[in-house]
Amino acid sequence: MYTLTVNGKSVSCGENKKLLQFLRDDLRLSATKDGCGQGACGACTVIVDGKATRACVFTLEKLQGKTVTTVEGLSPREKEVFAFAFAETGAVQCGFCIPGMVMSAKALIDQTPEPTAADIKKALRGNICRCTGYVKIEEAVALAARLMKSGEAVPQRECAGLIGDDFHRVDAAAKTLGTGRYVDDIVVPGMLHASALRSAHPRAKVLSIDVAEALKHPDCVAVLTAKDVPGNIKIGHLEFVSDYDVMIAEGGITRFVGDALALAVSRTKESLDAIKALIRVDYEVLEPMTSPAMSLAPGAPKIHEKGNILSHEHLVRGNAAETLKNSKHVVSKKYSLPFTEHAFMEPECAIGMPEGEDGVLLYTGGQSIYDEQREVSRMLGIAPEKVHVQGQLVGGGFGGKEDMSVQHHAALAAWVLKKPVKVLFTRQESLMIHPKRHAMELEFTTGCDENGILTALKAVIVSDTGAYASLGGPVLQRACTHASGPYNYQVIDIEGTAVYTNNPPAGAFRGFGVSQSAVAMEGNLNLLAEKVGISPWEIRRRNAILPGQVLPNGQIADDSTALVACLDAVREQYENAKIAGIASFIKNSGLGVGVPDIGRCIVSVEGGKAHVRTSAACIGQGMATVTTQIACETTGLPPSLIVAEPPDTKRTPNSGTTTASRQTVFTGEATRLAAAQLRKELDAGKTLADLEGREFSAEYFPKTDKMGSDKPNPVSHVAYGYAAVVAILNDDGSLQKIIAAYDLGKVINPKSAEGQIEGGIVMAMGYALTEDYPLEGGYPKANYGTLGLFRATEVPPMEIIMVQGKPNPEAYGAKGVGELATIPAAPAIAGAYYKFDGEFRTKFPMENTFYRKKKK
Ligand code: FES
Ligand code: FES
Repeated sequence: MYTLTVNGKSVSCGENKKLLQFLRDDLRLSATKDGCGQGACGACTVIVDGKATRACVFTLEKLQGKTVTTVEGLSPREKEVFAFAFAETGAVQCGFCIPGMVMSAKALIDQTPEPTAADIKKALRGNICRCTGYVKIEEAVALAARLMKSGEAVPQRECAGLIGDDFHRVDAAAKTLGTGRYVDDIVVPGMLHASALRSAHPRAKVLSIDVAEALKHPDCVAVLTAKDVPGNIKIGHLEFVSDYDVMIAEGGITRFVGDALALAVSRTKESLDAIKALIRVDYEVLEPMTSPAMSLAPGAPKIHEKGNILSHEHLVRGNAAETLKNSKHVVSKKYSLPFTEHAFMEPECAIGMPEGEDGVLLYTGGQSIYDEQREVSRMLGIAPEKVHVQGQLVGGGFGGKEDMSVQHHAALAAWVLKKPVKVLFTRQESLMIHPKRHAMELEFTTGCDENGILTALKAVIVSDTGAYASLGGPVLQRACTHASGPYNYQVIDIEGTAVYTNNPPAGAFRGFGVSQSAVAMEGNLNLLAEKVGISPWEIRRRNAILPGQVLPNGQIADDSTALVACLDAVREQYENAKIAGIASFIKNSGLGVGVPDIGRCIVSVEGGKAHVRTSAACIGQGMATVTTQIACETTGLPPSLIVAEPPDTKRTPNSGTTTASRQTVFTGEATRLAAAQLRKELDAGKTLADLEGREFSAEYFPKTDKMGSDKPNPVSHVAYGYAAVVAILNDDGSLQKIIAAYDLGKVINPKSAEGQIEGGIVMAMGYALTEDYPLEGGYPKANYGTLGLFRATEVPPMEIIMVQGKPNPEAYGAKGVGELATIPAAPAIAGAYYKFDGEFRTKFPMENTFYRKKKK
């Protein structure tokens, strides 16, 4: 028996287990999060005898007689201070890291009541945050320390919640104190646990699957295989390219090591591995194709029936070959960019439960409840209305939670067994299975005249889309449509091919193909500037698109376009720096190119309050706060009378996926339109009590022109954001400072937008300098600790500048920030390193830098 004190109470356990499991599973103290289970992320930080400690590392035998404090055990004063400090500074996004941050902060403040900035960074060194870039978390800790030391009362913030206010996020307190629920925090009575057996080989014929021994395990409830799937065995995020097997059947050929072969269902999660080990699979091992070159080689076996090419794009305007031939200066370079892992903090989890006669209720943490409903209903062969999906808090997504990962398996097991079933990925499963940022090979040839005015671009892009389609087609498309950058020239020849391989699938990742194109376009631009004899800033300024000019894709830049203001805002610091790089870029808001894309919202009056109902998933960006502020601005009601409801297919209308930096514009505008109807009634003298039970619905469905439109100036996207970023290096090559100017249109919540940009920049620093997702023969080799994620101590100061042109009419003039945040900093850092040592690096993560030595 092991006895210890947890949050002031003596508790015992007969089994020697990890402290984290004891806290979460036995004591139901779910504020302490399980981000990796490998001692690498800090989400599980608690205080043991006064010291910040990772609860996933220590077992109970090492903690005998010790005193453990979790967020739940903070004093009321501490809870009040931390909740205020994290909300006030805008430090909370997805929130999954925050309780761990709070405990590291408490351990510091208890020992050092007046910590310096360096003390704070050091104290947070063991805690990864993938969303914020740490800046605002450090500010929160400093503020909490000040309040604790002074003993002053926590200020009461009165805020009307209008557009442009630094309104406290509506979810900040629940996420800080760990009372908000992520799926794995939920325990349903009688719940079973399921986990899939994955293929032992990237490519192999499955000769037989024998589950007889597994079924004899005392905890085993069932082992499901492809034969148990009642409906469509193929799922896929895009309905028209559903190519992903729910499970590979006997006789089928696997496509990557994450392919599921059988789904073990157990009474306890601890016995899942033992049950899976008893499933016998006989394979005929086949040689995997682990690069696009192998997949495209003559005679290569087909990964999918239709062949090894997922999609092909060819964008032509003018005659690029001819124009380049006649250009004064031309540069041509090949770039090689790796797969990257999202590394969101919360591993995927879903719970399926029977509902009604033959329906299923699903708790999920994905990026769209309606995508999940559609895919699960097809798999089960039942009407979509029978699949009821409720979105819980999402601990980060960045595009990596758009596809099915756990949801379909939880729903299948629940539906077959008529029991609640939880599927939770281990961190290693998460690393292996969800689609990555595409590895791409890019060859860019760019020309300009004697003054540095761009003339033409010829680009060839090949992406490794891995085993399944996911969003590989649209990602390639965005890589191509944005390859030419935010510049005023119109001659392009851009060809892209997405190729299936036996690597893990690649799909959506913040930046959506544009992160890759930007590296190539901006790299070439620096070389052209050199040839012309002007600075990298000057060449961008000379070519920067202005309102009314025509973008390389033919679209006329609208009046909101403020790229020049971005460049002007960073000029002085760029020019005064000894070693600096610069990049500017562009990113769309919304799916665009003629794809139906609709934002929807219902505002209903219930219990004397205005309920804002949309299915837009908050993956950390603060969707509920955005819709609350838009509703306050439009109706004139205070935030206390607005309730932003979580996604639920029975309550909230389909507002599309959280993707393509679209929700603030699309759902934001739908919210404005619905709220305006309520405002009209209020202006007519009605009160909320008079309007009880009324519903006001709206949708925002802007039309865009399809790819290849024959219009001279097609509207490809409803809005574009622009940015210019400067990276300054110290003499030793370390980052000294990042200055980032962003044109996001009208900013709804400045602190939130700033926090997203800071987080995006740190993600881009990782892309350029440290992050890697190595594969050997199709097998992923990374764990969370080796991904190369930046820590608080390594992040340089960042200065974020917001600029704005004439606002667009939609959503009060807001434009998306999510993806643009992470695009220009990486090429800016590459440019800085070129200035630093004259070595023009074309491969990420860059080698021979302060952060990464040259590989032998
Ligand atoms: S869960 Fe313990 S360090 Fe990640
Ligand atoms: S807020 Fe830190 S990981 Fe999301």
